[in-house]
Amino acid sequence: MGCPHTVDDRWRISCCGLPLVFTMCICSIVVLVAAARSTSDGQQTQAVDGSSSQAQSAQEQHPPGDAQIQILGRRFNESEFAQGQAIYTQYCAACHGIDGQGQFPTAPLEPDATGRIGAPPHNETGHSWHHSDVLLIRYVTEGGFSDLTRFYAMPPFGDVLTDEQILFVIAYIKTMWTDQQRASQQQLTEEEQSRFAD
Ligand code: HEC
Repeated sequence: MGCPHTVDDRWRISCCGLPLVFTMCICSIVVLVAAARSTSDGQQTQAVDGSSSQAQSAQEQHPPGDAQIQILGRRFNESEFAQGQAIYTQYCAACHGIDGQGQFPTAPLEPDATGRIGAPPHNETGHSWHHSDVLLIRYVTEGGFSDLTRFYAMPPFGDVLTDEQILFVIAYIKTMWTDQQRASQQQLTEEEQSRFAD
């Protein structure tokens, strides 16, 4: 009658219960500390510079020569990235911006007073990474094929640059993207290749 526990039961409860409560406390402290750290990291990155900090860190983490960068399976060495950069500076930067920020960096995808959209950004804020390798090569070789009442013209470079130089400049443009953008663009390219291979 009365309390069903014996003295032994009570000992067992406190022997198992206390370590359990202790472990739970440690776990929640660890979770709280981790959460606090990740939010303060986020605030710091935003505080440095809202938009371009991602681009800077992408450049730092993936300097030219990065083994991950490839075009249709071909990889590039330091000197080829350097040639790509030189070609970019000479032939593309005037329109697309020296850092790939686009012709109208404050509103790259908005029409200007003439109602046309300027040269788009090539960095991580743009959408060049939504195009497969084949389309990027075609764009540079043949020039733009957008409606000229809505876009400025992208000139063809097929007669100005060699096929290799076109690959180098595109490889250089890829250094402006983030890891995820590169991975997703590579996947897109591979999917397109396998579709055409059938
Ligand atoms: C006279 C200005 C001008 C020059 C120089 C120029 N572009 Fe463009 N580019 C444009 C414009 C405008 C567009 C958008 C029009 C279109 O899509 O038809 C464009 C579009 C593109 C696109 C496709 C859109 C995108 O977001 O990826 C690629 C790739 C590109 N340019 C690469 C280059 C490369 C590489 C060079 C240098 C070899 C270059 N461009 C030089 C104006 C220029």
